[in-house]
Amino acid sequence: MVERKDIVTIDGPSGAGKSTISKLLAAELHYTYLDTGAMYRVVGLQVERSGFDLEAENGREKLVQLLATLEMTMAPGEEGQKTRVFLHGEDVSDAIRTPEMAMVASRVSAEPEVRKKLTEMQRAIGQNGAIVAEGRDMGTIVFPEASYKFFLDATPAERAKRRQQQLMEQGQRVEYGELLTQIQKRDRDDSSRALAPLKPAPDAVVIDSSEMSIDEVVSFMLKTVHEKKK
Ligand code: DC
Repeated sequence: MVERKDIVTIDGPSGAGKSTISKLLAAELHYTYLDTGAMYRVVGLQVERSGFDLEAENGREKLVQLLATLEMTMAPGEEGQKTRVFLHGEDVSDAIRTPEMAMVASRVSAEPEVRKKLTEMQRAIGQNGAIVAEGRDMGTIVFPEASYKFFLDATPAERAKRRQQQLMEQGQRVEYGELLTQIQKRDRDDSSRALAPLKPAPDAVVIDSSEMSIDEVVSFMLKTVHEKKK
């Protein structure tokens, strides 16, 4: 039998409320919050900046070189704040959180070399437990031994609405229809890729947050964690 670890995993599609909820839950439990989507976005940003074409004949070779020299550091945000991420020492926390970078991140996340490198980094961060890890494959691939697994979902329409609100708060104005189309495309790509596709772990508690407030979801998760801990 696998030895269960004191790790909470929260997987699910974009816009289901994972980041907000993971941060709050981590603060309640006094655990570290790990935003793995940010890591895929950093790789995407560096690929963009390097200006090479992943689809080109030597694309894979260039990607391997890029990963070998990639210096990424993460600093968990103050309570309730987002994780700050640094690429070669530069704070890219805002640069990675645009709809364009989300699409690039989704694209690079299908590359086996990228998944291998980031999975290793994530396991190293979680080796001592006491983390809330948020992403697409936390409960299935990265931390199958996690004690508490959740899969957070919501309808695409609700997720597009929430994403628009979130971007507006950051001063970015994006059309609802455009966001809905992007969300549906990312869902399709993230769920259908061969490697670590987005899907609930067999032992995950699935939550549809479409009709739930953030506080309701956090309370439910806390209750589930405390009950399992007993
Ligand atoms: O959670 P996010 O929107 O920041 O993630 C950006 C992209 O990164 C997402 O479309 C898929 C990918 N991703 C992944 O493949 N595995 C993870 N654990 C986290 C994110």
